[in-house]
Amino acid sequence: MCGIIARIGETDDAVDELLVGLENLEYRGYDSAGLAVKNGRGPTVFKREGQISNLKDLLANEVPSGELGIGHTRWSTHGPPTDENAHPHTGCSDRVAVVHNGIIENHDALRTELSERGHYFKSDTDTEVIPHLVEEHLADGATPEQAFRRTVQRLSGSYAIAMLVDESDAIYATRSGSPLVLGVREGKYYLASDVPAFLDFTDEVIFLDDGDVVVLEPGHHEITTLDGEPIERPTQTIDWDPEDAGKGAYDHYMLKEIHEQPTSLRQTLRGRADPVTGDIHLEDFPPGTFEDVERVQFVACGTSYHAGLVGSNFIGSRGLPSQTFLASEYAVSRPPVDENTLVIGVTQSGETADTLAALREAKDGGARTLAVTNVVGSTAARECDDALFIRAGPEIGVAATKTFSSQVVSLSLLGERLVRDVVGHRSEGITDVLSALSDLPDHVQQILDYSKAHRIAKQYHDSEAYFFIGRGSVFPVALEGALKFKEISYEHAEGFAAGELKHGPLALVTPATPVFAVFTGRHDQKTLSNVKEVEARGAPVVAVTSDANEAVVQHANDVLTIPETHPDVAGILANVQLQLLSYHAAEQLDRPIDKPRNLAKSVTVE
Ligand code: M6R
Repeated sequence: MCGIIARIGETDDAVDELLVGLENLEYRGYDSAGLAVKNGRGPTVFKREGQISNLKDLLANEVPSGELGIGHTRWSTHGPPTDENAHPHTGCSDRVAVVHNGIIENHDALRTELSERGHYFKSDTDTEVIPHLVEEHLADGATPEQAFRRTVQRLSGSYAIAMLVDESDAIYATRSGSPLVLGVREGKYYLASDVPAFLDFTDEVIFLDDGDVVVLEPGHHEITTLDGEPIERPTQTIDWDPEDAGKGAYDHYMLKEIHEQPTSLRQTLRGRADPVTGDIHLEDFPPGTFEDVERVQFVACGTSYHAGLVGSNFIGSRGLPSQTFLASEYAVSRPPVDENTLVIGVTQSGETADTLAALREAKDGGARTLAVTNVVGSTAARECDDALFIRAGPEIGVAATKTFSSQVVSLSLLGERLVRDVVGHRSEGITDVLSALSDLPDHVQQILDYSKAHRIAKQYHDSEAYFFIGRGSVFPVALEGALKFKEISYEHAEGFAAGELKHGPLALVTPATPVFAVFTGRHDQKTLSNVKEVEARGAPVVAVTSDANEAVVQHANDVLTIPETHPDVAGILANVQLQLLSYHAAEQLDRPIDKPRNLAKSVTVE
């Protein structure tokens, strides 16, 4: 978490561009924001606790001019969100200013050592050791670049760092375990934790690797190893439109991204499946790619974990052994793997530390790894043996919405490729699944046009708790519905396997706890029995189902309707209704929907 941005050019409007970058990065943390700018001397630091609007207020009377600067938006790990703990951090003097994303694991030892040598610390952060170390090397006669390299050699942990120093008009940066990308535009450079930060200014990008050290001057950049060996990295053009990363006419990114799903799903599907012939074309995965695979393990967190659960249900029900693990657990307690095990990391950002740790564990054990991600050039995409891109376009809202839908579609196509390669034949009825997938964008549009989620959110707005149930392929949708609901409304919400209710959770069910029950047309009678158990305890039931499911429709107090489709695809549609439900519930409670408290979009710490 945390977002860093840096900019260097020949015009003195660095602060304007840094503020745009910070606003684009605010989804990564919003506990505090700050920037440092150089104009002949400096660096001069401005920082404030709270959202970027506080920093803008600080700069309202006079925007400082300067050709180069660094900025930071914080998600607190070490020390509370205060002005003092906001980045950039400086040493004892103001000669050095540093922004950092990640965790310096040996900061305690470094702080003790530096304190013993007379350094005075102003913040509680792990980051502050960096400018103090640089300052010492400068005092010993090192050049700024030497001082930066020598400092980085002392750090352990994960970091993306950008630094300004008084003695030079360059920006020094490096990464190890935290993301950092370089944007290039006619004499100007941008460094950021994520591409959307500078998409307003350039779509030309150089993806940096762990261990790269970058020195930026106007019109010139140099990438080397920490030991100074030159490295060539290709420049790539990103095909995300800056409009895609803006909020447009919507009140929140989350609502915009929910409404983008017909488009993002078309992008995900484009050219990949033919419902008439049943052919699947997955760019880097032609038939036979996976013939050595004997079992599949998914590793992921949060919403991506729920997508992984759908994926393993799809694959497992077609005869290929498959399991899904929470990445944080997998990383500390890995199940057996071998060279015939395919471990699939599902991660929108491609930067989630828990998922990366699990994938590294799997690789160490000899497994083959594959990233299913939205971000080309992300760490997961680069570290895994292979990558499949979900092509959902940038997702800014902290609540994952359109990427879940695109993950599930991508995993269905990948799953069918795997089944064909390993089991040896097409799975039964696959053309019906592919046909339902091709109808999906239009079906999602129907839900967006006619959903009653706003009314239902209002009707149940003062409930004690909200429960979500589903069976089989939509058990993960119940989990996801509850995660989304609690994440942005702060109300108590839980998801359960429908059949598990009677084994404990039923004790929580009362007339003040609405139950949202997801139906797909498969196993419906059993889920209907669970609904009756709930109703017998007086709880209102909202069914998420198609109108064709008459028995269910007649039984429920309310219905969130989905178009009739294949049971394997119904969960994606049901989830869109639940996304809208969560959104409207949170909106009616006046929650900060795009920036839920204590959370950040990209969780780059374990
Ligand atoms: O970028 P990732 O898909 O790896 O992120 C994993 C989770 O942090 C993420 O899905 C999180 O649960 C969402 N914010 C939930 O809406």
